[in-house]
This record gives sequence, structure tokens and C-alpha cells, in this order.
Amino acid sequence: MSGHRIAVVGATGAVGQIMLRTLARRDFPAAEIVPFASARSAGRELDGYGTIQPLSEERVAGFDLALFSAGGSTSKAWAERFVAGGAVVVDNSSAWRMDPDVPLVVSEVNPEAVDGARKGIVANPNCTTMVVMLPVKALHDAFGLRAMVATSYQAAGGAGQKGIDELAAQVPVLGADVEALVGDGERAARKVTASVHANTLAFNVVPKLGTLGDNGYTDEEMKLQNESRKILGLPELRVSPTCVRVPVMVGHAIEVRATFARDVDLDEALTALRAFPNLVVQEAPTPLEAAGRDETFVGRVRRDLADPKSLNFFVVGDNLLNGAALNTVQLAELAVDRGLVGARV
Ligand code: A2P
Repeated sequence: MSGHRIAVVGATGAVGQIMLRTLARRDFPAAEIVPFASARSAGRELDGYGTIQPLSEERVAGFDLALFSAGGSTSKAWAERFVAGGAVVVDNSSAWRMDPDVPLVVSEVNPEAVDGARKGIVANPNCTTMVVMLPVKALHDAFGLRAMVATSYQAAGGAGQKGIDELAAQVPVLGADVEALVGDGERAARKVTASVHANTLAFNVVPKLGTLGDNGYTDEEMKLQNESRKILGLPELRVSPTCVRVPVMVGHAIEVRATFARDVDLDEALTALRAFPNLVVQEAPTPLEAAGRDETFVGRVRRDLADPKSLNFFVVGDNLLNGAALNTVQLAELAVDRGLVGARV
């Protein structure tokens, strides 16, 4: 049988499920796809993919590729073991992104960086960084990026299936008590429990996403700075990030004020955005309409009112697909095309 032997680690998860669909939809040359998940799911049948496997020393050998989306600690513990067994790993967690021997790659932005996978691991960025990168790169090439203020409106699905489930459970409870939502929000918020998101998310907006650091920024916010710098090759890039959870199931949105080395011409900016691959310019894109779509959508493109070197825009992408699974599969395709897969055996 021709094609590659592929492990999908986290195959039952929100991103893992979409990875499987994306591999199939893009006709990835797979001889065999083996689904891995936690011991909780092991032994269960996954429709079309056979029995879900637990991670164990004897099961991880002999793969050409391993696509990971099972959280940072699973990637830390198991990615190198898959590599030792012959695989190239494409990792969707934060475990390896800032390792100097691991390239952090967006396939439309810095594909050549894949060649620097000295550990046999290629990292996929955080879903918010990923959604921002396409328009930012298009504009950087045109005007020279110096700084960005980025404020996100992030979907529940960014916290995985459990994030979606928590919001879905809260909506009917609070939706049935409009009186409390209008007149006594404190009481409304306490009608449900929040364990995945930092506060009640239904009919609310939660301006704390991730773990707060000593500098007052969350780890999610720091990813936006550090990953943008690495992907764009701009170690001095000034980033002011704010990450906010909103009651959307799938689809991250980010309002960006980007500042450049030279004055921004609006027509030139729109031309650069329209010409960029997988990027669609719309008047006012929304996350709901981006859910299930491959493309990144950008709109509300405006010159700054005060600073001729700054541009404001609103960018939207499906965080599970556009922000995670699609790029992971595209990175696997790049690894094959650029001769990495099979080279390590
Ligand atoms: P499981 O479904 O058995 O818990 P999500 O991001 O949607 O929460 O999904 C996380 C994915 O990572 C799931 O497929 C989950 O499997 C998997 N996972 C979580 N912990 C582990 C682990 N320790 N080993 C392997 N897979 C794991």
C-alpha cells in the first residue's frame, strides 16, 4: 500500500476530530491512520479509524508522521518518543513552540522554516496567533511591521470540547431567565458553574483567558507576543495583547491596530490583503460565518484616525480548523514535500 503511516494523538478531541476530517478531505497520502487518545477512550471504536489506542512505548514506533493535539504535557512526554520511532511530529500544543530547535510555522507565512526541524518536531502556533498571522504578514511585506495592539474575542472551543460543552450547558439555563440576566446579573451568573472558563461565559464576556503571570498578562497573551515574533522573524516586534473569551462556540476574532515603518496607503493595504493566499477581505466578517471554513477573513480595514503609519482591522478565523487542524495538516504536507518524512528512519 502506498502512502504514509500516520498517528493522530488526541484523535477524540475538538481539534483532533477536525484533523482527521482534514486529512481525508485533502486526500493526504495515508496508508494507515492510527487514532490515539487518553486511557479513558482507549479500546473504543472511532468511526472509520478502528480502535483508539493508548500511548505506550511499544505502540509509538514505525510511524512516518505523528500529528499531536492532546495538550502540552502529552506532547512533552511523547513527541520525542514518536521521533525516536521514526516519525516527524507536527505538534499543535504549546510544548515545543519556543524551542530554538523547533520551527514554529504558518504554511502561508514561513514555510521554509520547516527545514530547521532539528528535533524532528514542527510546531503549529496558538490558534489566536494563527488567525492573526495571514493579514499581518501581508501587511508586513508591504509596509514593514513595527508594533501591534491585538485584542481578541476568543471562542469557547479554544478550550477544547469541554469548553464548548460548558457553554452549551449554560446557554439554556440562563436563556430561560431573562429577568435575572437583565435585572440581577450576579444571580444569573451563579445559576451555573464555570470550571473550564474563568467565569460564567453564556451571555457574558470574560477578560481573563489563561494563567495570569507576574507582569499582569496571561500566558495566552504572552503567546501572541512571543509566537508572532518567532514566526515573522521580528524579535523586537512590540505587541500589546489582550485576550478575551466570548460566548461563541467556534471562531476567534481579533481587532488589531498595526503600526508600520512607513505611512499606510489604504488601497495598497487592501491590494496586499486580497492577494494573500487563503485570506478573504470582507466588510465586517463574523466568527459564526467563519465556523467550518478554511479561510481567514479580514474586514473593517481602516487607517488610524491619528497615526498615518497605523492601520486598524478585524480578523476572524475558525480556531479549530483555520487556527489549528488545517495548518497542522498543511505542515504535514510541507514536511512530505520538503523531504523530511522518511529521512529520519
Ligand atoms: P480523551 O478524549 O480520551 O480525553 P480537547 O482539546 O477537545 O479537550 O481534546 C483533548 C484530546 O487529547 C482528546 O483526544 C483527549 O483524549 C486527548 N488526551 C488528553 N489527555 C491525554 C493523555 N494523557 N494521553 C493521550 N491523549 C490525551
